[in-house]
Amino acid sequence: MSLAPHGGTLVNRVNEQYDLTSVQKEIELDLISFADLELIGIGAYSPIEGFFTEKDYVSVVENMRLASGAVWSLPITLPVDSEKAAELAVGDTVKLTYGGETYGAVDIEDIYTPDKQKEAVHVYKTDDDAHPGVKKLFSRGDTYVGGPITLIKKASKQFPEFTFEPAETRRSFEEKGWKTIVGFQTRNPVHRAHEYIQKTALETVDGLFLNPLVGETKSDDIPADVRMESYQVLLDHYYPKDRVFLGVFLAAMRYAGPREAIFHALVRKNYGCTHFIVGRDHAGVGDYYGTYEAQELFDQFTADELGITPMKFEHSFFCQKCGNMGTAKTCPHDREDHVILSGTKVREMLRSGVMPPAEFSRPEVVDVLIKGLKTKEEAGVS
Ligand code: ADX
Repeated sequence: MSLAPHGGTLVNRVNEQYDLTSVQKEIELDLISFADLELIGIGAYSPIEGFFTEKDYVSVVENMRLASGAVWSLPITLPVDSEKAAELAVGDTVKLTYGGETYGAVDIEDIYTPDKQKEAVHVYKTDDDAHPGVKKLFSRGDTYVGGPITLIKKASKQFPEFTFEPAETRRSFEEKGWKTIVGFQTRNPVHRAHEYIQKTALETVDGLFLNPLVGETKSDDIPADVRMESYQVLLDHYYPKDRVFLGVFLAAMRYAGPREAIFHALVRKNYGCTHFIVGRDHAGVGDYYGTYEAQELFDQFTADELGITPMKFEHSFFCQKCGNMGTAKTCPHDREDHVILSGTKVREMLRSGVMPPAEFSRPEVVDVLIKGLKTKEEAGVS
């Protein structure tokens, strides 16, 4: 018996036979809502069944709860511009398209003007346009359309062998006999620090669900296809095959730090995880959030309300004196003995073909990253 999804039942809003012949109006989705449409449809966002109406939106922005009372930390919205909004009315069924193709439909229950300033300050803790998530929020349409969706067609998959729906991962975990599963969110290559916290977690749970985010990220993050190759090489060389499950997470990155950590955990619960790793500055960017603020936010909710257990880890590093990985909890040495590199520094090194030290990242992983980034640069896509 696996863990119950958030809200009790796994949502399924897929109907590939949905009849669209009488539907004229359409909304063209951006990359964020395109990914959200599919994730809602397949139940990854259970108990959410559509894009937020104003009631859920205000409740989530202000209180981190859906109007029903269930914990939820990020607004899942469908923004449109004012011209499009003028064409739409409550009661309409509207096609949801991406790149000119129809992927779903929304039954409009609400059309409203959000207070984006408030959304920014509550969700991102800043209205600074230099924050990539805030910048994105303000660049999207100024009217939100709310209502239940139907997923009519699933997007063609970039990583077909690593794309699973919550019902599938749940079944797989059960077949493997895993009773406790820890989820790991990442938008980066898996470096030694990530490996350390994953393996420390694996010492106490049955399986690891390595679930890298492959939706939209900011332009200087390492592209998903290069990362996916690096994860496979790492797993082949350094992980026990029968205790790790690699699958992609289609959502866009919001960089909302603490709030996004709660969202990441609830979604992994829907995929069947019992535990979720929250390390340093989870889903953070720049200096907008405190190092352990994401971990602290979990303490505002009861274990029952969350239904997934956070596994919190301190900032991890390789210590030259210890000769192994550790944190301030396990290593007595000074900072000068620790191999610590910022994400920006590492990306710079990789882009200029310089190997970060083996204490920071496995050479096999670095090899794939340098080659992958070089190929992209030559093709003019990175
Ligand atoms: S995130 O935006 O997806 O959170 P990243 O891929 O860097 O970024 O992090 C994945 C997970 O590993 C997060 O839980 C993060 O807190 C954790 N993490 C990253 N680096 C470290 C580190 N050096 N020590 C401890 N935890 C870390």
